[in-house]
Amino acid sequence: MQDLNLLNQKRYDVTAWFYDILDYPWELQYRKWRPGLLADVSGEVLEAGVGTGRNLKYYPPHVNLTAMDFSAVMLRKAAKRCAKASCTVQFVHEDASSMVAIPSERYDWIVAFFLCCVLPRDLQEQAVSEFARVLKPGGRFRLLEMKYSADPALRKRQIFFAPFVARVYGAGFDRETLQHVQNHPNLKVTGTRYLKHDTYLLIDGVRER
Ligand SMILES: C[S@@+](CC[C@H](N)C(=O)[O-])C[C@H]1O[C@@H](n2cnc3c(N)ncnc32)[C@H](O)[C@@H]1O
Repeated sequence: MQDLNLLNQKRYDVTAWFYDILDYPWELQYRKWRPGLLADVSGEVLEAGVGTGRNLKYYPPHVNLTAMDFSAVMLRKAAKRCAKASCTVQFVHEDASSMVAIPSERYDWIVAFFLCCVLPRDLQEQAVSEFARVLKPGGRFRLLEMKYSADPALRKRQIFFAPFVARVYGAGFDRETLQHVQNHPNLKVTGTRYLKHDTYLLIDGVRER
């Protein structure tokens, strides 16, 4: 599915120019979650799929952040938010499903919000394996995903919006991120909870060995 990944990269190089406007209605909700979701993150941190840098200002000051994205234009937008960050930040232009420039066991934390729901289905496992590789043993991860709801009315709305979400964000509600993490021999899920309805799923975990 490299073709879909490449298509996503091109898509985000274009979407980057109006991403913050496009995402604004949802960001009104996300901005309430972001500070709490980043308050306990510490040490060497990789944010995979940093986007336009919406999380940057919420990292605690003692964090040393590697902000990764495969869209050069998204990274440039994120760099503009760097002045608001109280932690140190390095930007890396890199694919989260390969991470060729990232050494193994480098990070204490991985944060990825709305990344795995963008990755093509066939690259999901690969990306989760990369998370496991670049985390130190004992390192933690926090993933935020969107999912199809079991509620028929909500699911109907999601199905209606799915073509738009796929076209504009390259994203889907049908990814199986939690299963991929649970299936990985070195990763352990320590907690899951929904932030809203049964659609915004937070996955917390640790690399065991
Ligand atoms: C939906 S946006 C989310 C941005 C940000 N995490 C947030 O919370 O606002 C997804 C981001 O992941 C990036 N992305 C998608 N696939 C990627 C990949 N394979 N490697 C690295 N970044 C990727 C996109 O370029 C985009 O910036």
